[in-house]
Order: sequence, then C-alpha cells, then structure tokens
Amino acid sequence: MNILAIETSCDECSAAVLQDEILKSVVISSQLVHTEYGGVVPELASRAHMELIVPVVEEALRKSTLTKDMIDGVAVAYGPGLAGSLIVGLSFAKGFASSLDVPVVGVNHMEGHLYSSFLEESRPRFPFVALIVSGGHTMLIRVKEPYSHELLGQTRDDAAGEAFDKVAKLLGLGYPGGPVIDKLAKEGNPGTYDFPKSFMDGESLEFSFSGIKTSVLYLLRNIKYDPSNRDEKIVRDICASFQRAVVETLVEKTIWAAKRFGVKSICMAGGVAANSELRKTMQTRAENINAKIFFPRPLYCTDNAAMIGIAAHFKYKKFGMKTELTLKPVPNLPLVS
Ligand code: KG4
Ligand code: ZN
Repeated sequence: MNILAIETSCDECSAAVLQDEILKSVVISSQLVHTEYGGVVPELASRAHMELIVPVVEEALRKSTLTKDMIDGVAVAYGPGLAGSLIVGLSFAKGFASSLDVPVVGVNHMEGHLYSSFLEESRPRFPFVALIVSGGHTMLIRVKEPYSHELLGQTRDDAAGEAFDKVAKLLGLGYPGGPVIDKLAKEGNPGTYDFPKSFMDGESLEFSFSGIKTSVLYLLRNIKYDPSNRDEKIVRDICASFQRAVVETLVEKTIWAAKRFGVKSICMAGGVAANSELRKTMQTRAENINAKIFFPRPLYCTDNAAMIGIAAHFKYKKFGMKTELTLKPVPNLPLVS
C-alpha cells in the first residue's frame, strides 16, 4: 500500500509518503508567521496551510520517487486541532483521493503521536504504555494491541507543552517555549527553586500543570522580574527548576502506569517528548524496572505527516480502508478505544 499522508492540525503543514510501514519521504513546513504573536493565530494558520499544502505535497511525492498514480490511498488528520487548519488538509485529501479514485482514511492526530515510535527501526512491542505530551494534550494510554487504546489519565487543565510555552512567555523567551527552556535549563541549577508537582498521591495517573505555571508567575512578581532587563543566571535556574519538576511528574506517572499494567515497552511522543532531560530521565527510570523506552527522533515528536501515515497503516490493517468522503474536521476529537 502506498499512502500519501497529510497533517495540518495546527501550525505545521506536512505531507509524507509511506510504502506499508516504510517511510519514503516526509516534508514539514513550520509556519513562522506566529512567532511574533507568542502563540498560534488560527486564522493565519489556515491561510498559511492554503498556500503551503500543494507545494508540500508535491515535494513529498518528488522525494519519495513515487508518482501520483502509484498512490493507493490518502490518510489525513481530521482532529483534534484547529477547525480552519484541519479543513484545509481534509479538503485537499478528499480532492486528491477523488481525482485518483482511491480511498481516504481519517486519522486522529493523537493516534498519530501514539504510533510515531513505529517510524524508527527499533519498534515497541504490544502491549505498551504511552505518554503523549504535546502543546494541547498530556495523556497516558495503554495500548493492548494495534488500535485498542485505553486512556489511563490526562491533564485536568494545562498540557505539559502549554506550561512550557506559558512559562517561556512569562520569562520573555518567545514562542514556542519548549526548545528554548530545554536549551537554557542545561546551564541552570535545577535545585534552585522548589516548584510544585501535582497529583503525586496514591500513584494517580492524572496530571495538572496550571499550578506550576502560577507558581513561576508569583516568583517573578516577588523578584520584580523584568523580561527586558533580565538576569540570565536567574532565567537559567528558573528554566532548570521548572523543567525538572515537569519531567519528574511525567516520568514518575509513566513508570507507575508501566508497573501497574506489567508492560515492558514504554512509548513517548508529542512535542514535549523532544525534551532532552525528559528523554534521558525516562530512559534511566525505564531501565530500572527492566522496561524498554521507545521514542521517535525529535523531528517526529512534533507534528508531522509521517506519524499520520504510520497510524493509518495500523488502522487500515485492522479495519480495512474505506472511502470516507463525508469525513468532517472534529476540533475536539477524543481518542477512541
Ligand atoms: O506535538 P506538537 O508539535 O503540537 C501539538 O500537537 O501541540 O507539540 C508542540 C509543543 C509546544 O508546546 C512546544 O513548546 C513543545 O511541544 N516542545 C517542547 C520541546 N520541543 C517542543 N517542550 C519541551 N522541550 C522541547 N525540547
Ligand atoms: Zn501534536
């Protein structure tokens, strides 16, 4: 099966070509237009997707060395995400599939993240527990077999990536916050500030990250922090202490889940899974319980179409490939079991 996969949920316009589960090409165009606004502006995102979608697909096809008429189906993310952005990818996918008379399969964006570790050579074994940490979601999921998902816990308020973005904004570090905090934290002392960790009693698998963000806000008020005249040592120490608290919460709960369900494979995905300290700490803690950790390379942690293609592979192997021309964007699409 040669699949063209499309991802336009948020601010990455991406296309990929897969031959069964083998990735032939992926093109990811990140929209820089949002940087000056400190977050994604939905209207600008959909307009940028309209300009990018055709050249991005053309480049993915060219790089794959496959021609259009060799495509057997189109996979597209139809939610969760921004309605206007999803519509662009979905409309393109339907039009492209109709013109070739091939099926189009809708993929949940979170399922894309969930299966993204399968894009790498070393692949997880079923059953596994997965931590998905992105800008909009923080979830722990148990995957018993392909497309059998059980949501074990999720955030009650902010997502982990959202906390990184908000703290970076408070510090005046720009958007997105994750990569810059990751970098600055390397030179800071994580023991400087004691930021709160939520839901740590009774091995709870629920998350909350709004308290830690508020705690950073109060600290900055107390020290009369001025982003335009900042002390770089203080910034580095705040980044390191904040990151340590978030990483410890994420790792602890993932390990609890792996132990509770006796799984030996742990997957981690989503933008925050690109975080260097999270990757290192998760690896060490997984080894301590004789479990193996799987995460994709940083490029496939953030939004991309390759993950939509690999999830589609598992989906059509289980349910078959039906034409879904009536598919609509679902901005708050839940993860289904
Ligand atoms: O998965 P993703 O690309 O988009 C969503 O589906 O939300 O995740 C984006 C999020 C942003 O909040 C960004 O700050 C965060 O991932 N992120 C990171 C890192 N790289 C991206 N967070 C922590 N450390 C990183 N290195
Ligand atoms: Zn995502």
